Amino acid sequence: MAESSELCEAAKNGDLAKLRALATAGADVSHFDHDGLTPLMHASKRGDAEAIRLLLHFGAPWNALSPAGLSAGDFAMESGHQDALETLIDAGIRAELVLGSVARRNPPGEPEEKYLEERVLFSEDRIMDSESKAVMMAWERPLMEAHARAICGGWDGGRFLNIGFGMGLVDSAIQRYSPSSHTIVEAHPDVYKRMIESGWGEKENVKILFGRWQDVLPQLESYDGIFFDTYGEYYEDQKEFHQFLPRLLNRGGIYSYFNGFCGSNAFFHVVYCQLVSLELGNLGYSTQYVPLPVKDCLPEEIWEGVRQKYWQLDTYYLPVCQASDDSD
Ligand SMILES: C[S@@+](CC[C@H](N)C(=O)[O-])C[C@H]1O[C@@H](n2cnc3c(N)ncnc32)[C@H](O)[C@@H]1O
Repeated sequence: MAESSELCEAAKNGDLAKLRALATAGADVSHFDHDGLTPLMHASKRGDAEAIRLLLHFGAPWNALSPAGLSAGDFAMESGHQDALETLIDAGIRAELVLGSVARRNPPGEPEEKYLEERVLFSEDRIMDSESKAVMMAWERPLMEAHARAICGGWDGGRFLNIGFGMGLVDSAIQRYSPSSHTIVEAHPDVYKRMIESGWGEKENVKILFGRWQDVLPQLESYDGIFFDTYGEYYEDQKEFHQFLPRLLNRGGIYSYFNGFCGSNAFFHVVYCQLVSLELGNLGYSTQYVPLPVKDCLPEEIWEGVRQKYWQLDTYYLPVCQASDDSD
């Protein structure tokens, strides 16, 4: 154990030779010191990219959290050390590509099945699931309006697809762009019932498909704009949806999604923004993230009675994706 806390000391002091010697001799690189920080966090605080590379090489966990919920990457971000930050982002992306430990499905299938079988509770400013987690909240209205603008703004009378109705915020905004056709996929029976009761089924240009997007895929056509925002799913599910974009998105069309991955940790969020952009890039899509300040929409009281604050960051990065050859 003594060796492991010496590792933290060496990381704090930037003593690379000692770090290497201790790690080679088998000191525990994932050790949390008395201050709750790992050697990697200490090296990141100092922006010591070489020490970071060395510790990662010896298996230091990139995603360990301090008692305050900060990762090594958060420390590097805070101190503005670009080289250190990029080294940690690369490590995060590589690990997530292989293991997906932060936002991947575990165990398979469970959370969404449970969510879809249980009742949801509607109130004016939110929809809650049976575990008091927020399915959707009204503070997102300006974000949903910006998403609608991103996918519909370039089209007069376009054809749009939205996956996940929730409070209907994005769909109400899409309607303002006078679509020639507007398809909505919704899987939860209570949400679907409410949509029908509030007249969405009678709108001439609206087609509602009740079911999971996975199950209604054969009924989907092709669209000028697509928005994706489900609940109870993981990145793996969305990644699967992305495989269908070449069939679903018209040439010149725009795809966007609710970018809530790891919305409680600034560094993990950056890793996921880059990971999704990389994976969409492999499918031939380029992604731009438009920063939108959200701090002012999020007074502490709005989370009252909500079990998990799913968003705690000051800036929302709105993804705008289009086929790379369209953007040439
Ligand atoms: C976060 S809400 C969407 C909020 C919506 N963007 C808005 O503007 O109000 C997610 C919605 O997706 C639905 N949903 C969850 N899983 C789904 C799936 N696999 N296919 C279709 N809809 C799904 C949920 O029932 C919920 O209504």
